[in-house]
Amino acid sequence: MVPLPRVAVQHLNPRHREDIARHLLRLPEEDRRLRFGRHMRDDMIREYVDGINFERDRVFGVQDADLNLIGFAHLALDPATRVAELGVSVDPSARGKGYGFALLERVVLHATNLGYRVLFMYCLAENGIMMHLARKAGLTVVVEAGEADARLTLDRVTPGGVFQEAMADQFALVDCMLKQQYLWLARPGLESVSSSTRKPETADERRRTASAAETLQGEVPQRA
Ligand SMILES: CC(C)(COP(=O)(O)OP(=O)(O)OC[C@H]1O[C@@H](n2cnc3c(N)ncnc32)[C@H](O)[C@@H]1OP(=O)(O)O)[C@@H](O)C(=O)NCCC(=O)NCCS
Repeated sequence: MVPLPRVAVQHLNPRHREDIARHLLRLPEEDRRLRFGRHMRDDMIREYVDGINFERDRVFGVQDADLNLIGFAHLALDPATRVAELGVSVDPSARGKGYGFALLERVVLHATNLGYRVLFMYCLAENGIMMHLARKAGLTVVVEAGEADARLTLDRVTPGGVFQEAMADQFALVDCMLKQQYLWLARPGLESVSSSTRKPETADERRRTASAAETLQGEVPQRA
């Protein structure tokens, strides 16, 4: 039986650029160094975010109850060389809750399903947390270029991986819609009205509800 994910990991799309930037800008200097391998000023982070190629790459995120992005993973793909590169980060205030591991597992599942077998990640040998997570995810870590780059071998082909991914996406979609509904219901000034007096939903409200799934999932589920 396919295990259900414990953390909802969303596909992100270009409409999330600002959320991604806000998350990365919250990382302190040392975390930026661990994530990017170099000093990253705010303008460099904005430049990096503007340059994310959402068509070629895959971008994932974890959101809190208010739909703020608190975890982010960027899987940069090179279809020509079949090389994938991963960068992952979690807000300092949200660490130790399994979000980093959930992002890593989601990325590994996706890359494996796409047929990639090796994943590169900038990872200092001193980054014990990331090393621990990689090994926990069943990846073989080969530290290269001195201490800087970890090569993760995706030698763990999961039977039913595509189905597992579809389940993860459905789970993420439901999670997003529930959070969106909760936020909508918790809006200040929202009064309980009987169905007879309730005004019909405006086109704008309908659009907002529908776009919640689209915005966070990257695509609207198609009717058969
Ligand atoms: C690496 C990072 C993404 C982890 O995020 P997270 O949400 O805290 O990760 P999780 O909660 O899933 O797991 C943390 C694990 O590290 C373990 N850990 C904590 N401190 C540790 C340490 N000093 N050494 C080894 N493991 C440690 C925890 O016990 C936990 O493992 P467990 O669940 O098996 O008990 C986050 O620390 C981060 O954003 N760091 C800065 C950027 C970075 O280093 N990115 C990686 C390189 S691209």
